[in-house]
Amino acid sequence: MTQVRKKPVYQDIFGLPMNISFSPECVRGTIQYKPRDDDIFIVTFPKCGTTWTQHIVHNILSKGEPFESFEDFQIRSPFMEMLGPKTAEVMPRPRAIKTHLPFHLNPYSPKAKYIYVARNPKDCCVSFYHHTKMFPEYQFTDGSFDDFFEVFMNGENDWGDYFDHLLSWYEHRLDSNVLFITYEEMKADTRAAILKIASFLDQTYKDLLESDEKLIDKILYQTSSDYMRKHLNEQMENFYCNPVFHRNETPEGIKYINEYFKNQKIEMPNEMKFVRKAAVGDWKNYFSAAQSKLMMERFKEKTRGTDIANLWPD
Ligand code: A3P
Repeated sequence: MTQVRKKPVYQDIFGLPMNISFSPECVRGTIQYKPRDDDIFIVTFPKCGTTWTQHIVHNILSKGEPFESFEDFQIRSPFMEMLGPKTAEVMPRPRAIKTHLPFHLNPYSPKAKYIYVARNPKDCCVSFYHHTKMFPEYQFTDGSFDDFFEVFMNGENDWGDYFDHLLSWYEHRLDSNVLFITYEEMKADTRAAILKIASFLDQTYKDLLESDEKLIDKILYQTSSDYMRKHLNEQMENFYCNPVFHRNETPEGIKYINEYFKNQKIEMPNEMKFVRKAAVGDWKNYFSAAQSKLMMERFKEKTRGTDIANLWPD
């Protein structure tokens, strides 16, 4: 008898599976948003190091000022599909917008800048599994890794197929307004990655960091996983675990999430461990040998004709 697997709950927006709390209006607004020339986008497939990169970029732009609170983070580096483009219009400049869209849906201008962070699909899958268990709207708190593995392999998770997403941006990795970087590269030499990102944003940021050892040390400290685990997890707990759930700041978003939670009788989470292991290779603690083989076969098949699989050979 085949085992019936548990699946998280999603909604379909423009053909993409999405977190049920997201407002289709905000997603539509994001896709239709016309970037300004000085817009910076931090684009990732979910769980590939988005938040870390947002903190790095903000620290570079603000010359070492950390986000003051989760609200400050949402305003200064908004997640556009979640909050809608209105937030971006009122953001202080220069600003960095977070999106999770594949290239063909992401707001595009040849003058805007795009930092794309890619991560080993196996670590991404494990991280996404924990994420999906943590946010109660997925109704997957008791889901197993094996359940989620199947969802991920079928591209049924939020924002769809990992491999299609990666391919869509990989094709643009050499564009002058795209910085394609991997989570693993950032982990291996974070200082070098910060300088690379700074140089991509503007040579003056890199020059400043190179001339000010204390500043780059401060940024390294404030974007370290230990610092972010303490501060961001605490800020997110204050924000998400609040009885008045105010996650989507746009009126459409607030209405959406409140009604959804009320109707589904979903409890608020007790804790937020958004910054979790923050390591390379945690997949080894979750994947069976068969799952690892299956994923590599899928990876090679989906990316045939490219050299992407060489990024994460095992
Ligand atoms: P793990 O779940 O593997 O620990 P995103 O921000 O795209 O959702 O990515 C989340 C992943 O990035 C999580 O991975 C999280 O722990 C990791 N992460 C967050 N902050 C980090 C940091 N400062 N350094 C390294 N990894 C970090």
